[in-house]
Amino acid sequence: MKSDRYTTIIKILDSLYMEESNLMANLSNTAAVIKEYLGFFWVGFYIVDEKSNQLIVGPYQGPLACGRIEYGRGVCGSSWKEAKTLVVKDVHEFPGHISCSPLSQSEIVVPIIKDGKVMAVLDIDHDKKATFDEEDQKYLERICDEMAKLF
Ligand code: SME
Repeated sequence: MKSDRYTTIIKILDSLYMEESNLMANLSNTAAVIKEYLGFFWVGFYIVDEKSNQLIVGPYQGPLACGRIEYGRGVCGSSWKEAKTLVVKDVHEFPGHISCSPLSQSEIVVPIIKDGKVMAVLDIDHDKKATFDEEDQKYLERICDEMAKLF
């Protein structure tokens, strides 16, 4: 069951974050754990760069992805701008969706918010349509709440 997998992921991440405080190490291991336990197509982070007002790709697992995303652009830039989770059942129907791989069909983007500011977004793509539901959103938001403390 999906909820069991998320519960396992959360336990693993809790112990990782207790042992390690380095941000890049934790982002890298988080992407790996989510990808391994849930088998999504692409799992990774885009980190807010205040200087350029762009998202810059961070640690990820999956095929090569675009390096920078403008504020308000694509699913990631929109999630950053709106400071809320976006669940996209069919990426072809999301206006301005940025296609990093033609195989990607559905996507969820969850902002990591600290002191009211979006620090990064967790981006997950899958190669099937309508992959992500309220359950994914609930658990991934819980994970991102914990991750906000790492920034
Ligand atoms: N599809 C994203 C771009 C990042 S890739 O999916 C890894 C977007 O529209 O923001």
